[in-house]
Amino acid sequence: APTPATTGRRVLLAAPRGYCAGVDRAVVTVEKALELHGAPVYVRKQIVHNRHVVETLEARGAVFVDETDEVPEGALVIFSAHGVAPVVHDEARSRGLRTIDATCPLVTKVHHEARRFAAEDVDILLIGHEGHEEVIGTSGEAPEHIHLVDGPDDVPNVQVRDPERVAWLSQTTLSVDETMETVRRLRERFPALQDPPSDDICYATQNRQVAVKDIAAQSDLVIVVGSGNSSNSVRLVEVALEAGAGASYRVDKASEIDPATLEGVRTVGVTSGASVPEVLVRGVLELLAEHGFGQVEEVVSAKESLLFALPPELRRDLRAAG
Ligand code: F3S
Repeated sequence: APTPATTGRRVLLAAPRGYCAGVDRAVVTVEKALELHGAPVYVRKQIVHNRHVVETLEARGAVFVDETDEVPEGALVIFSAHGVAPVVHDEARSRGLRTIDATCPLVTKVHHEARRFAAEDVDILLIGHEGHEEVIGTSGEAPEHIHLVDGPDDVPNVQVRDPERVAWLSQTTLSVDETMETVRRLRERFPALQDPPSDDICYATQNRQVAVKDIAAQSDLVIVVGSGNSSNSVRLVEVALEAGAGASYRVDKASEIDPATLEGVRTVGVTSGASVPEVLVRGVLELLAEHGFGQVEEVVSAKESLLFALPPELRRDLRAAG
């Protein structure tokens, strides 16, 4: 029964949230490869940065490895959505591995841009988080030309060969506002700075940030569902706080919510990163309902309908199997 402490409690559920087209494609790629070829199917790195997804696929026979040298000769290996450096393709080839590349097409686009600027001998300032797999993969396209810029405060450290020949690119899952600030400071130092031919921060990252901004100011607390190594999920917490949420934190799943954090809260915002299956959001909503947050209002800031075709090498195998 409602008590004075729980009346008027509500949830604002951000939309869009959760799976993007690139994550959906990568997860389906592993599922179809398992159906077609049977276990084990090797996957280099986490297919997407979500613990639940990885554990579920593991239970079905996917074997996650760090590098291709852990894959038996001749076996099948899938490359993750974050992309790989060309040297990884070379290594796989030299070991006779069969490969399926589940790199998100929007990451591949950034790889193309890097190759094109490098071919013009332009220094590339790649805005991104040091050590993130996507950044490692993109940097591998043009290691001689790419310099990592890890946020606005890193701008003074940037060294280029010729300040007249510089361009910027970025990781796909950054904070839009922070990236614009980094670019502004880069342009102060390098007025001739060239822009990417199109946005590198992908539509899904942008839409999820806009959606969380739309609920943040009305929320005493914003809960972001996503794993700790998921860049876009971690950004959603930062964006929520900047947009006026009373508090915000990230959980992998409902059981990580400490009920003490719900005390005195009337409105909880809920969203999820691009690698997060909706079942985990459902779990959070169920837990919130148990604490009196039964009223759920979805706030839709955009509609998404993008879908990517499966990797061509997988489509070919699917056709051959009839
Ligand atoms: Fe691709 Fe963006 Fe998702 S780069 S994998 S659509 S978060």
